[in-house]
Amino acid sequence: MKRLYGAACFLFLLQTVSSVVVPAGVKRNDSPVIGVLAQEVSAPTPGKNAYIAASYVKYLESAGARVVPVMIKKSEEEYIKLFKSINGILFPGGGASIVSSGYAKAAGIFYRLALEANLKGDYFPVWGTCLGFELLTFLTSQKLLLSHTNTTGVALPLDFTKESKDSRMFKDFPDDLITSLAKEPLTENSHRWSITTESFNKSEKLKKFYRILSTNTDGQKEFVSTVEAYDFPIYGTQWHPEKNAFEWTRPYIPHTPSAIKTTFYTAYFFVNEAKKSLHSFSSQEEEQKALIYNYSPKYTGKRSSFEQIYYF
Ligand SMILES: *[C@@H]1O[C@H](CO)[C@@H](O)[C@H](O)[C@H]1NC(C)=O
Ligand SMILES: *[C@@H]1O[C@H](CO)[C@@H](O)[C@H](O)[C@H]1NC(C)=O
Repeated sequence: MKRLYGAACFLFLLQTVSSVVVPAGVKRNDSPVIGVLAQEVSAPTPGKNAYIAASYVKYLESAGARVVPVMIKKSEEEYIKLFKSINGILFPGGGASIVSSGYAKAAGIFYRLALEANLKGDYFPVWGTCLGFELLTFLTSQKLLLSHTNTTGVALPLDFTKESKDSRMFKDFPDDLITSLAKEPLTENSHRWSITTESFNKSEKLKKFYRILSTNTDGQKEFVSTVEAYDFPIYGTQWHPEKNAFEWTRPYIPHTPSAIKTTFYTAYFFVNEAKKSLHSFSSQEEEQKALIYNYSPKYTGKRSSFEQIYYF
């Protein structure tokens, strides 16, 4: 609980700061390196303690970033060093605990570092997909506010809120893609848990921190499906933008032209956010040692929901 307490103090600090300066980005870093957080495998075996689905890597690469795997169970010092070297971080979907896993602990540290850095004008974007989004709601609210929904394998259109129109995330999406996203089932959902709009509305912390850009429903409960933080480059989707172009293991993953565009424009948005970060590795050698290119993914599509997985 110690870390949570630290986060609580930090949030208090946040609330005392009246405005957060996000730099206009005079400089641009056209060689961004983005961390993708690993997580525990469900049944550890030798050589398979943690994994990253390769689709997250391809997703970021497709829009012009290189990827560094962020390993679980490292020291805070190691995470601080890595934080200063990379230009953004993505918390992927999966099945780890959002309270007690190595995945949750590492994410908590990066989340805190990102808040601190951004407050000082040091731009550092954070993205959470599915479980990563659920984790963001936990890190921000310090409460488990999730409810069960019937959404374990379904593609849905997005119910955009009015606020989505002027959002940073969707602002540069082509109009025809926004129209398709609102009408066609382009966003893949595979989650048992969601944050209902009602629970979100009851949390002062979440309401103050995030603007809701879209919601969805399982027929019974309405849940939040896309958010962006008001004053920080922190983003979350309950749906999986990376799957449309890079996963083929389930019949409900959409692959229409608009679905593929959704993958690309979402990645393009986040990679451009990372281009506003000027962090860098201390040397080219350090960077080369860290890159995902040092690892090879395994073909796992015959037995898992991912076509390829990096094991660590
Ligand atoms: C869950 O949703 C699916 C459609 O995605 C529907 O076919 C099924 O009947 C629903 N199950 C329940 C228990 O509501
Ligand atoms: C949540 O709050 C928003 C804006 O205040 C409102 O439009 C919406 O109806 C609320 N939804 C629920 C389920 O309470």
